[in-house]
Amino acid sequence: MSKVVVFKASPRKNGKSTELMECVIEGAKSNGSEVVVYDLNDKGARGCQSCFYCTTHDGCVQKDYLQPMYKDIDEADSIVATFPIYFMNINAQAKIWIDRLHPMFDSNFQPRHPNKKVVAIYAQSTPDESAFKNIVETNNAAFKMFGWDLVKSFLLSNTMSPEMKISEETKKEAFEVGKTL
Ligand SMILES: Cc1cc2nc3c(=O)[nH]c(=O)nc-3n(C[C@H](O)[C@H](O)[C@H](O)COP(=O)(O)O)c2cc1C
Repeated sequence: MSKVVVFKASPRKNGKSTELMECVIEGAKSNGSEVVVYDLNDKGARGCQSCFYCTTHDGCVQKDYLQPMYKDIDEADSIVATFPIYFMNINAQAKIWIDRLHPMFDSNFQPRHPNKKVVAIYAQSTPDESAFKNIVETNNAAFKMFGWDLVKSFLLSNTMSPEMKISEETKKEAFEVGKTL
């Protein structure tokens, strides 16, 4: 049985990134995967304190909401993460998570927990799909630094339009990707 660890960054109850994330989870569960979900909007998730403990140790000193994720990530076959776009960048909740992943490589930038599949889900209100292409690329590059394999990067755009609905095709694709995790 594979283990999938999910990081949800949208604070919205009916956020679009969360909606697609649920399709990936459904697919993973349909294949018998164990799924663990972290809500990055949790008040107990603290930002990196820049102590650099993790350059000499595989872990983080902070005993907060995110502390158990290190064991979960170590055990995980796959990671799913959502990235709402706020002010032309990933939102603060997602950025806190990325910063807290510094222990994923050692002082020589060698991955400590490589070989995980990753699914990233971005959501933005602008319909221009290329508007934050550089942000998406830069953020996805972090996964490469960890030695993780980005199997799919979804981009949901025009999300604030009342007519916007995630297409059945995209939902199906997310479900199918989930089955492979
Ligand atoms: C503070 C804030 C800033 C935002 N800035 C942008 C932006 O710069 N560009 C954009 O396209 N959408 C922006 N949005 C809209 C969000 O990207 C959009 O609501 C998206 O659907 C959020 O993801 P979610 O639906 O998963 O919550 C912003 C939303 C908020 C709350």
